[in-house]
Amino acid sequence: MKFTSWAIGIAVAALSAFAPANAQQASPIIIKFSHVVSADTPKGKGSERFKELAEKYTNGRVKVEVYHNSTLYKDKEELEALQLGAVQMLAPSNAKFGPLGIKDFEVLDLPMLIPSLASLRKVTEGPIGLGMLQKLDSVGLVGLGYWDNGFKVMTANKPLRDVEDFKGLKMRIQPSKVLAAQFKALGSLPQALAFSEVYQSLQTGVVDGQENTPANIYSQKMNEVQKYMTLSNHGYIGYIVVVGKPFWSGLPADIREQLTKAMNESTAYVNQISQKENDDAVEAIRKTGKTELITLTPEQLASWRKVMLPVYDEMGDRVGKQLILDIQKTVAGSTN
Ligand code: LMR
Repeated sequence: MKFTSWAIGIAVAALSAFAPANAQQASPIIIKFSHVVSADTPKGKGSERFKELAEKYTNGRVKVEVYHNSTLYKDKEELEALQLGAVQMLAPSNAKFGPLGIKDFEVLDLPMLIPSLASLRKVTEGPIGLGMLQKLDSVGLVGLGYWDNGFKVMTANKPLRDVEDFKGLKMRIQPSKVLAAQFKALGSLPQALAFSEVYQSLQTGVVDGQENTPANIYSQKMNEVQKYMTLSNHGYIGYIVVVGKPFWSGLPADIREQLTKAMNESTAYVNQISQKENDDAVEAIRKTGKTELITLTPEQLASWRKVMLPVYDEMGDRVGKQLILDIQKTVAGSTN
């Protein structure tokens, strides 16, 4: 007799409906944690640390399956999958929530807003960070923590030193209106592409360059297809670890408590290693001898700043003028 897969599925569902209650309880709660970067990045390492701690603290009642490097879903798909309950945990970058209708996190894409990771911590760990997480409720998500990647650099096959160097270049961006405005201000043509498509798009000339953190660039081998990397640190990439609200609120309270503990410790771990991960990636790229690393002069940096800062006014209505002011006030006084 030939069984179709749906028939088998129904049979399995029917059998489990009649399984004894204790047998059902014995099967672990599965958390599928999907993300788009490699295992060898702050986020990749953080997801593995969370798996280890979550399974330990729940004595195996929770099993975490980590899917690195877009192996399960790409950027846009993963958010849809989370809302549909096909995965339980993600950590998209702050630039990726706009398409869901949550524009606040894009404030962190504003160029030259965050002077240091220490000052960022004052934002994310204080009332501003909490307020932004609460916005996720309106789209059925719960934010569990802010994970760093780090500061962005620029890459291309021509040296990017002066603002004029950006003119007419097709630059890959994440799907953030703030990032689009930043590159338009520089005279470039921004193109939103999924992270998994960046390497090939650079290789085939679909785009000329991109901005990202050194850890992301090196772990995706983007440096192999980009001759120049400008160490501009002009902007930030971080993550919001999110779960679906129905999943999270449906967990037994003791499990939720242990997972929160595992998440808090994983967050501390990621935020402790992120700077070194990126510094190591810069050195690894330097060592290849194939990509020239460019340091901007104070004058060049000042001219980038002059061109980029009007983006704050332009994007004020989108991300919230008050939010920009509150962040500026919170980070004021931090210089590095
Ligand atoms: C990108 O799309 O460039 C990054 O946000 C990917 C990531 O998750 O760090």
